[in-house]
Amino acid sequence: MPLIEARNLPRHVGIIMDGNGRWAERRREDRSAGHRAGSSSVRRIVRVSRRIGIEALTLYAFSFQNWARPGEEVDSLMALLHDYLLSERAEILEQGIRLAAVGELDSLPEPVRMLLDALCAASAHNSRMTLTLALSYGGQEEIACVARQFAREARAGTLDPEHIDAHLFASRLPSQRVGAPDLIIRTGGETRLSNFLLFGSAYAELFFSDRLWPEFSEADLFEAIASYQGRQRRFGQVVEY
Ligand code: IPE
Ligand code: IPE
Ligand code: MG
Repeated sequence: MPLIEARNLPRHVGIIMDGNGRWAERRREDRSAGHRAGSSSVRRIVRVSRRIGIEALTLYAFSFQNWARPGEEVDSLMALLHDYLLSERAEILEQGIRLAAVGELDSLPEPVRMLLDALCAASAHNSRMTLTLALSYGGQEEIACVARQFAREARAGTLDPEHIDAHLFASRLPSQRVGAPDLIIRTGGETRLSNFLLFGSAYAELFFSDRLWPEFSEADLFEAIASYQGRQRRFGQVVEY
């Protein structure tokens, strides 16, 4: 297991959980089997993140663009999400995890939405770690939504357009409620953000892993954190070497 320092942990980690489909293909199984295996990875990584003291974990579970996948695959993902929310309820509450969700949640099937809202409400006072599920989420869509709100408020005369700046944007973006991500991990070998946390990722450290999400282990998470801890964050400034 790679060694990590207890100090200097990334406060907020975002994960683009990619590679379920390829994992299944390699085993000659259908894609839904890959998503099922991916769901076990979620359990594993949530547990270890909480244990080591990560304050906020944001998991990209379903993108706004993923709705365009074949209906069968979307249905299987929604069914898995439903099962996850049912089976993890007790553990999330016992472990002091606060569940939150970002994205166009109105598009989720009603039974999923109900379970999600109930668990978010029931866990709202937990403070050990905030687990945010990005569902039907798109970074561009999220920014456009806030821009629309600003335009409405400016038209109504309740917002001076001159007051719109990056801070005001950050304060309105749901994905930024837990602050900007310090570390973004993408599994599955692709080196792109695919519309994840576009605003907050401005100064995030990026870690790309070739591991497919269903096989992403505790050791892989530690490797990503160790890499993060070896970097110097400069935020555009000059720092002494
Ligand atoms: C990630 O795995 C899960 C979702 C996007 C919902 P993929 O389904 O994208 O797996 P690959 O990239 O096809 O292997
Ligand atoms: C990103 O993966 C979305 C999630 C992990 C939920 P995709 O598989 O949808 O992204 P692309 O298509 O490779 O960019
Ligand atoms: Mg993919």
